[in-house]
Amino acid sequence: MERIAIYPGSFDPVTNGHLDIIQRGLTLFDKIIVTILENPEKKTLFTVPERIELLEASLKDIENIEITSDGGLLVDFVVKRKAHAILRGMRAVSDFEYEFQMALMNRKLNRNIQTVFLMTGLRWIFTSSSIIKEAARFGGDIESMVPPVVFEKLKEKYKLS
Ligand code: PNS
Repeated sequence: MERIAIYPGSFDPVTNGHLDIIQRGLTLFDKIIVTILENPEKKTLFTVPERIELLEASLKDIENIEITSDGGLLVDFVVKRKAHAILRGMRAVSDFEYEFQMALMNRKLNRNIQTVFLMTGLRWIFTSSSIIKEAARFGGDIESMVPPVVFEKLKEKYKLS
């Protein structure tokens, strides 16, 4: 039986930290469905089609990946795709409360779905899409933290040279 994980997130935009989690996830699962979902707490910089395009370009050399988006509840999407688990990355302790709350809410909504947390590589512990966008907005050098296509797109968005 093919073991499938849903890797949900805003991916606004995808970072090297996300790619790290996907690579680690593929050592546990046969297939990962990277899914852009709505986070009502976040105002996004990129549209869903732009985020999909960036994910596709960044993951083009990695096999057993599907990239998609959905407008509903994560647990419903997991059932719809007959997946076995939700995959989330964990960075510093600061992630814990939010991730814990979300995992328990998802468990409350559907008892049969497990959330699997993987620890990001140490070099990505302090990066996030939000902090990278903020640094890029004010001209900070974020090239080493994102895939090349994302770097180009951020430069374009923030009119950097
Ligand atoms: O990358 P993010 O913003 O931390 O990802 C959060 C996301 C998109 C996975 C989360 O907000 C989500 O699952 N949204 C879909 C609606 C839902 O099912 N919410 C969880 C139950 S409250």
